[in-house]
Amino acid sequence: MKTQFKFLLSFLIIILHLRIYAQVNEEQKINDLLSKMTLKEKIGQLVQFSFVNSEREELIREGSVGSFLNITNPKEVNRIQKIAVEESRLGIPLIIGQDVIHGYNTTFPIPLGETASWNPELVKKAAEIASWEAASNGVHWTFAPMVDIARDPRWGRIAEGSGEDPYLGSVMADARVRGFQGNNLKEKRNIVACAKHYVAYGEAIGGKDYNTVDMSERMLREVYLPPFKSAVDAGAGTLMSAFNDLNGIPASANYFTLTQILRNEWGFDGFVVSDWNSIGELVNHRFAKDKMEAALKGLTAGVDMDMAGDEQTGNVYLPNLESLVKNGLIKEELINESVKRILRIKYRIGLFDHPYIDSVYFKQNFISKEEREKVALQLSKESIVLLKNEDELLPLKKDIKSIALIGPLADNQEDPTGPWSTAPIFENVVTVLQGLKNKLQSGTRINYLKGCNINDDDRSEFDKAVKTAGESDAIIIVVGESRDMSGEASSRSDIGLPGVQLELIKRIYETGKPIVVVLMSGRPLTIPWLSENIPSILETWFLGDQTGNAIADVLFGDYNPSGKLPVTFPRSVGQIPIFYNYKSTGRPPDEKNKFTSKYLDIPITPQYPFGFGLSYTTFDYKNLKLDKTSLWKSDSVLVKIDVSNVGDVAGSEVVQLYIKDWFSSVTRPLKELKAFNKIHLEPGETKTVEFKITPNMLSFYDEKMNWIVEPGKFDVMIGGNSEDLISATFEVTK
Ligand code: NOJ
Repeated sequence: MKTQFKFLLSFLIIILHLRIYAQVNEEQKINDLLSKMTLKEKIGQLVQFSFVNSEREELIREGSVGSFLNITNPKEVNRIQKIAVEESRLGIPLIIGQDVIHGYNTTFPIPLGETASWNPELVKKAAEIASWEAASNGVHWTFAPMVDIARDPRWGRIAEGSGEDPYLGSVMADARVRGFQGNNLKEKRNIVACAKHYVAYGEAIGGKDYNTVDMSERMLREVYLPPFKSAVDAGAGTLMSAFNDLNGIPASANYFTLTQILRNEWGFDGFVVSDWNSIGELVNHRFAKDKMEAALKGLTAGVDMDMAGDEQTGNVYLPNLESLVKNGLIKEELINESVKRILRIKYRIGLFDHPYIDSVYFKQNFISKEEREKVALQLSKESIVLLKNEDELLPLKKDIKSIALIGPLADNQEDPTGPWSTAPIFENVVTVLQGLKNKLQSGTRINYLKGCNINDDDRSEFDKAVKTAGESDAIIIVVGESRDMSGEASSRSDIGLPGVQLELIKRIYETGKPIVVVLMSGRPLTIPWLSENIPSILETWFLGDQTGNAIADVLFGDYNPSGKLPVTFPRSVGQIPIFYNYKSTGRPPDEKNKFTSKYLDIPITPQYPFGFGLSYTTFDYKNLKLDKTSLWKSDSVLVKIDVSNVGDVAGSEVVQLYIKDWFSSVTRPLKELKAFNKIHLEPGETKTVEFKITPNMLSFYDEKMNWIVEPGKFDVMIGGNSEDLISATFEVTK
C-alpha cells in the first residue's frame, strides 16, 4: 500500500513538474517571439476583422491582423491561414472566432432554455458537441458562453444567457466553458471560450439593448460578476468587453473591471476582445473625442483585441496605436502585455503546432449523428417547463381519435432554431407537426392549420381554425415569438404574445374543447389570460433541431417534464424588474396593507416564480434535518431532506436549496439559491438528498467589500421552486 502511495505521489509530482515546465517553456517561446516582432506586427496581433478582401489579405501578409471572425467556410479558413503562416514574416497563425452559442450545425435549445434543464452535465455535453462541429469547420474560438445576468425580460438578449440568478448562472458558465474547452485546449476538437459581455450588460435601463447601466459596486459584485468569475475559474481563455456604459465609464474602457478586478483580483491571464466596434463607439458614448482617443482608452483600460468595426468605422487599433506609441501616449510595454496575452492563448490552443483544419483527425475522432441527436433530444426534453396542468389534461392519451394542431409555430422549421443559431440546418428541425406524426399511430387524425402568422393582423384563417378545433377531441396551439424577436437588438416594450395569436386562442377557447398551449419564446412572456383560462401550458423556449420530438414526448407522457424556470415570469410589463432574490425593504410587500412596497393594481406575486415547473407526478418534501444547529464561522452544516415521489409515474425533480440570513450589517436578499440537485424517482420511491452548507455559502460583502460570514441566525429552505419551501434554522456563533 505504502509503495503504491509513494509511486502515485512521485507520478503526480512528475506531472506537476511537466506542467510547470510546459508553462515556463510556453512563456519563454512567447517572449522569444515577442522580441522578434516589430511594433507594427505587435499591433497586428491586436486587430480582428470580420471578412476578407484583397486589402485584408495584404494585411495578413504584413502581419497586421491577428484574428478574423465570421469565416465559416473551412476552405477559406485554411486559405487565409496559409497566408498568415507561410507568407507573413513571422508566420504567426490567425485565431478564428465565431458565435457558437447553442450549437453549430446541430442546434440545441437556446441557452435560457438549456438552463431550464438545471442539468449542467448535459449542458456541458451540448457545448462539447458544438465545439467539435465548430472546430471541424475551422473555428478556434467561440464568443460564448454569454453569462450576463438578466432580470428584465424586455431585454432580448435574455435568450442568450442563463436567466436571473447568479448561482445558477455560475454553474452554467462553468459547464459551458468546460464543455467548449475540454480538459486539454490543445486537443483539436476543443475551442477556446469567451465569457461575455463583461460586464453588467443585462442591467441596461428599461431592458433596452445597448442602454446605459448604473449600478452599485455591491450589485456588480453580488449579482453580475459571479458568473464571469466562475467562467474564469473554469479556465475560460478569453472575455469580451461589453457595449454598455457602466457608472459613467463604458465597459470597454473600464480599468476598474477590466484590470483591477479581472487581472489583479482574479489573476486572469487570457485576453479580452472588445465587442463589435465597442471601442470605436466610445466616441458615441461621448467618452472619447475621436477614434485615436478611443483606442488609447480601450487599450489602457485592458481591452487587448479590437473586434472588427463596420465598414464606416473600421478597426480602431490598427490605424491609431502606432502613433499613440510614437507620441508617447502609450508605452510599448502595454502593447507587449496585450500581445503576450493573445499569443499565450494561441499557444495554449496549439495553434502554432496545428494551424490548419486536420480533416483526418476529425474523421477519426468523430461524434456520430445519432449521438448528437440523442443529446439534443434529451436536453430539449429537459428544457421544457410545464407551467400549468389543470385536471391533469396532460399527458394526452396516445389513442386519442383526433387532434387539432394550430398555430404559426406548429409546422415551422426556422423559428425554433432561435436567435444566434450559428449554422443551422433548417431541414433538420423536427416541427411539432412532424413530432406528432412520429409519435402517433394512424388511428389519430391530426388536423393541422396555421391559423395566423406570428406578428401581423391577418385573421383570415380564424373561422377555419375554430371549425377545425371544434371537430377535434383536443387542441394543441403552438404560439410565441419569431426567432428574431429575441437576441441582440431585439428588446420589446410589450412582451405579450405578438400579433393576433392571443385573439385566435380566445376564439378557439370558445369551442369549450380541452386546450394545450405550447409557447415558444426567447424570454418570459406576459400571459395572464392564458394562465387564467387555458388548462395546460408548456414553455418550450426555442428547442432547436429536436423541437417536435421533444414536445411530442412531453405531450404524450413519454417524458415527464422536469424543467424549472431560470427566470421569473411577470404578470405584466409594469411589474418588471421582478426577480426572486429581492430584499425585504422597510415596508415589506403585504397584499392587505396599502402602505407597503407593491403596486395597487396587481398582486404582489409573479405569474410564475423562479425555479418553478410542474411534473406529471407529485414530489413530497419532508424530514429536513441538520447535523448541527449551532456552528462556528468556519464550520459547515450537513443538511438532509427526504424527497418522495408520491404520484403514479416516474419523474425527475430539481431539489433547490436557498439560504436566508436573518439579520446582517448589510441588507441581504430574503432568499438566495445556493445549491441544487436534480434527482430521478420512481413512483413510491424516496431519496434522501444531502447538501453541505459551507461558510462560503453564508458569506456576503460587508460594508468595506470584504467577503465575510457574520454570526447570527440563518434559514435553510428547500423545495421544488423558490416559493414552496420548507425551512430550518441554524445559528453561526463567533
Ligand atoms: C455583437 C454581439 O454583441 C456579440 O455578442 C457577438 O459575439 C459579436 N457581435 C460578434 O458577432
